[in-house]
Amino acid sequence: MCGIVGYIGQNQAYPYLIGGLKKLEYRGYDSAGIALHKTNDLQVVKKTGKVAALEEAFRTKDTQSTLGIGHTRWATHGVPSDENAHPHYSNSGNLALVHNGIIENYASLKEELLQKGYQFKSDTDSEVLLNFIEDIYQNNDCSLEEAIRIALKRVTGAYVILILSIEYPDTLFAARKGSPLVIGIGKGEHFLGSDASPMLEYTKEVVYINDYELAIIKADQLILKNLGNETLTPYVQKLDLELAAIEKGGYEHFMIKEIYEQPQAIFDSLRGRLDPENLSITLSGLDKIKDKLIAARRIIIVACGTSWHAGLLAEYWIEELCRVNVEVEYASEFRYRNPIITSDDVIIAISQSGETADTLVALENAKSKGATIFGIVNVVGSSIARISDAGIYTHAGPEIGVASTKAFSAQLTVLLLFAIKLAEFKQSASEELRKQLTKELSEVPQKVQYILDSTVDGIKDIAKNYQHATDFLFLGRGYNFPIALEGALKLKEISYIHAEGYPAAEMKHGPIALVDDTLPVVFIATKDKVHEKIVSNMQEIKARSGKLISVVTADDQLAMSLSDENIQIPASHEIIAPILATIPLQLLSYYVGIERQIDVDRPRNLAKSVTVE
Ligand code: F6R
Repeated sequence: MCGIVGYIGQNQAYPYLIGGLKKLEYRGYDSAGIALHKTNDLQVVKKTGKVAALEEAFRTKDTQSTLGIGHTRWATHGVPSDENAHPHYSNSGNLALVHNGIIENYASLKEELLQKGYQFKSDTDSEVLLNFIEDIYQNNDCSLEEAIRIALKRVTGAYVILILSIEYPDTLFAARKGSPLVIGIGKGEHFLGSDASPMLEYTKEVVYINDYELAIIKADQLILKNLGNETLTPYVQKLDLELAAIEKGGYEHFMIKEIYEQPQAIFDSLRGRLDPENLSITLSGLDKIKDKLIAARRIIIVACGTSWHAGLLAEYWIEELCRVNVEVEYASEFRYRNPIITSDDVIIAISQSGETADTLVALENAKSKGATIFGIVNVVGSSIARISDAGIYTHAGPEIGVASTKAFSAQLTVLLLFAIKLAEFKQSASEELRKQLTKELSEVPQKVQYILDSTVDGIKDIAKNYQHATDFLFLGRGYNFPIALEGALKLKEISYIHAEGYPAAEMKHGPIALVDDTLPVVFIATKDKVHEKIVSNMQEIKARSGKLISVVTADDQLAMSLSDENIQIPASHEIIAPILATIPLQLLSYYVGIERQIDVDRPRNLAKSVTVE
């Protein structure tokens, strides 16, 4: 979703801004623009389409400037167009702004401004916000900083804004509420970004700006204030991230790189937490809320998309091992449903980005009702990590491909660690079972590597054969049901083929009407306690001439004999199997997407970090 960059310092701003926008492309966008502060002018260039088109447009321009802002836009208010792209000018032309987020009360503000004679070139809420600031600035005896503060107090919604003013050639103004903003500290220069990726090659020292904070940034000074005009001390953190982690490193796409990084990502999520010699687990994040967890009447898991699928599987695991009631909620529904929450509840938030707007607000609501928030987050220092009372980082490393892969398997890893540890606290599962699962979990990185090595060629063939299908059905039971949902989501995201995930037994209650000899049905049918049942479901599809593609436990002759295509994965405990079954489904989606020539890293309409609701 929208990406933001800014620069102020002794060096040229343009190389950082254009390079930074390229680094933020993974977030998803439809247009891009840059504003440079010239001596008595603000030069804005913006273009629909890729950052490369913007770069082309700048080729004939003078880019000399040491102060500038840039933006990639993911349309919310108004279609993708040059006019709606950011940066926007104010009516006087003295101010330029980039904005990430949604101003919810923009319509009434716009009405106010129209009555005062303001004109608008775009359909965006962002241009309204900028002119609202300009109006306050022009009609009150106040500084621009004060005008921004007054305006932001009247605004509802979410924003990160960066503002340039002709009158302030040595200052960049920035503010945040609900959308992410990172400021990198250099020597006599500052780098701004929606995340730290644009600034990695320049500095490792960063400040994460909090909600309702306003930054007044000069080349060698960062002043941080709240909206009440009190000065705050910036908390400088050191980034533990290398540039190589956000580059393709020889792979054709980030998605396939990240699929292949899973043995390492899972290993990193286990490192220092699972001791394979003693088969013990240490989770300091969990220790912090141990008593709360043991006493909890229920655990509520809140997430969106792929992270929600991880939560759904965790429900099966935690209820089985810990004998506590678990509810799994779509954050977007939970936040508006007036749910019953008390201080006895523990809320687990799952999020790769740590910035998903719906999840964040759902947590803020739950927190205000006294619930304890436990965050399972990938991006260190992100908003969800910071709002959590305790938590576990997934340590999957930066995930750039829009479709979540390694972050998902790392989430599953951490959630299973969580379930086993909580079972130990509660003594709700036998020591023998806990040790067996701990041992098998420690073996997951090698098994995932084996699956990657042994299944890829067969999966490429399957992708070739089924690339023209118009629909896919994904079926699983028990622990494999959430994996069926995830398989379907992944395929539709990056192949644009309609796909649905279902509990295999539910098929008879409707979807079976779709089955004919053109419908590929992907079964996740590893050996578990409902294996015979799912084999019956396979028979039912076969009897109706559906095409069976099955993920099965190695040497499961019966399941294999029923399938048109099969993908074998190593035998494992039924609780571990769904983590392994995920891998071939990711490969299948990737290669179907490649066959169909989709931009798998940046599929249409999707954003990596969904910072608007
Ligand atoms: C799908 C995908 C999305 C995200 C969802 C939540 O591949 O990536 O469905 O899982 O937008 O994002 P996070 O985990 O960042 O909260």
